[in-house]
Amino acid sequence: MKTGVAYYPEHWDEWRWETDLQLMSKAGIGLVRLAEFAWSKLEPEEGRFEFEWLDRILALSHRFGIDVLLGTPTATPPAWLHAKHPDLYTVDEWGHTLGFGTRFQRCLNHPVMREHSRRITEAMARHFAGNPAVIGWQTDNEFTQNTCYCDGCAKAFQEWLKRKFGSLDALNSRWGTAFWSQTYTAWHQIPLPKQAKCGNAHNPSLLLEFRRFQSQATVEFQREQVRILRKHCPNNFITHNFMGLHNSMDYYDLAEDLDFVSWDNYPITQWDQDTSKASLAHDVMRGIKGRNFWVMEEQCGHGGWTVVGPRPKPGQVRAWAWQAVASGANTIVFFRWRSCLHGTEQFWHGVVGHDGIPRRRYREVAQFAGELAAMAEKLDESVVRNEVAILDDYEQHYAFQIQPQAEGLGVWEQVRRFHVSLRAMGVGVDVVPLDINLDRYRVVILPGWPIMTEEAAIRLRAYVANGGTLIVNPRTGLKNADNVCHEDVLPVFLGELLGVSVDDYDALADSCVPVISQNGEVFNASVWTDALLVDGAEILARYQDRCFSGEPAVTKNRHGRGVAYYFGTCGETPFYKSFLTEILAEAKVPMKQDLPEGVGMYWREGKNQRFLFLINEQSAPVDVPIDAGMTPLFGEVDGKTATLPAHGVALLAENG
Ligand code: GLA
Ligand code: ZN
Repeated sequence: MKTGVAYYPEHWDEWRWETDLQLMSKAGIGLVRLAEFAWSKLEPEEGRFEFEWLDRILALSHRFGIDVLLGTPTATPPAWLHAKHPDLYTVDEWGHTLGFGTRFQRCLNHPVMREHSRRITEAMARHFAGNPAVIGWQTDNEFTQNTCYCDGCAKAFQEWLKRKFGSLDALNSRWGTAFWSQTYTAWHQIPLPKQAKCGNAHNPSLLLEFRRFQSQATVEFQREQVRILRKHCPNNFITHNFMGLHNSMDYYDLAEDLDFVSWDNYPITQWDQDTSKASLAHDVMRGIKGRNFWVMEEQCGHGGWTVVGPRPKPGQVRAWAWQAVASGANTIVFFRWRSCLHGTEQFWHGVVGHDGIPRRRYREVAQFAGELAAMAEKLDESVVRNEVAILDDYEQHYAFQIQPQAEGLGVWEQVRRFHVSLRAMGVGVDVVPLDINLDRYRVVILPGWPIMTEEAAIRLRAYVANGGTLIVNPRTGLKNADNVCHEDVLPVFLGELLGVSVDDYDALADSCVPVISQNGEVFNASVWTDALLVDGAEILARYQDRCFSGEPAVTKNRHGRGVAYYFGTCGETPFYKSFLTEILAEAKVPMKQDLPEGVGMYWREGKNQRFLFLINEQSAPVDVPIDAGMTPLFGEVDGKTATLPAHGVALLAENG
């Protein structure tokens, strides 16, 4: 376990390097990430590589005992490359060709881009292979789907379709191209879904296939780099910096070629100040490979490009870093070492500022680094193990991006309603794909999954039949894998399991409907209402108003050795807390009912011991009651109570 920083020695005079490394080392920083945007410094002109400056900083880092992670610099192809091949630029959905001057302006499908990506990766891998300072690699930077509509992408997409569908007849029939007279008689007629006269209103089947195609383009682009790195640097690990809740591509596919997932955590920026998302993002990132991860960029000060974002409160940076560790992060790399003097990100604040003098941000990072180092031996091998899972699948994100259907149905919006409620009940959550063994979870939550295949339904049914508890949400079982509506009764393939069918439905826009539970509690339901017909299920709640007044809203059905719930609507935290409390109690999942609001509670399990992290996410002090049998490792704990100051952290070990 280490604390690191992103460092850009190429931005600074060389005389400063040693001072920087000395300051890092004094703060307990044991790792630097280097070079992920340094292509023009590494290869100033085609074929002329200049690695000596990097050799020197590697040697210096090594002297300070600081490990190095190298990035492949392909997010920023140099000006000479674009000048020579202007068609490397991506084309946006309006047909505009991007130009030079920022980053990510390259089409990942372009054979010339692929060739140069392999070339610079190979040159770096050969040169740095065996360098004692280097422990691993980061591919590129913050991959997204290849968002490009160039002619090359159009041809490659048509080839992709040809391979997948085999014949135009098959494609025409599966996509239903009779609609709006879109029958294709040659492959080259099939367009990319560019903006059109009536907006981006393309066939949903084509839109879904295009997302798959451009997601895979990124996966294959990365795969070429990974192969080269593995060949020359077999002892180095390979990772990539994911973006938490980003969902333009299939992160499971992207992670397949990597040793572990890393991600970039910025809880408060000028764009978004909802700090509660970080906890979900950690759970999503851990779930991708089902193992511990790194934070490759951890916020250490105010963000900001043209506008200066909000400054984290004193102690908040440390609390976020501990929250990451508590959620399964093994190494925290702060972004960035020093605020830059030049370039777009002048106001993205580093551990030290423009003046390079250690001040409060430095002291806070140093405090965290010291604490982590002191705990590292204990926590090193520990992992996160939860009994509740939320299922995820990027195709469902695509489906809702293509057809949102109603405000508030986006997959992360749905997932967050459950996640926030479960966290508030002191229940840890894994976010996992459907193709793992679900039997280790007592409760599994399926957010609305419009795309439902028979195979997926078989897995869900088997999980319940084996004794699992499943919660299914509205808009599940609507479409087949071509994004075409099923002809059957909703929720398709799951009706028998749930003991219900959907008789009618209503999107609520921004209005609410009262829902009354069996024991008379009334909640606000919003976003969506399914009017249910029960066929064997028990009714747990009914609508009290609007068109479905009196009809079932929430149901429970026994199936095999397990039980399946259908939530026909969405609610707010009290709604979820109330139903989840009963569901979890019946499924024997432990909860902490006396967890004060705004306190995060996380467990890591070691070989012989469990560790409890309590993190105060608010700016007011709070007392947290502690169960018996816990020994404090740090933080103010007096036996029965942990007294957490604003953004305070306590770590306790369960007595063995
Ligand atoms: C991202 C990138 C970094 C940097 C930061 C701050 O996470 O990976 O290169 O741009 O944001 O803007
Ligand atoms: Zn392209």
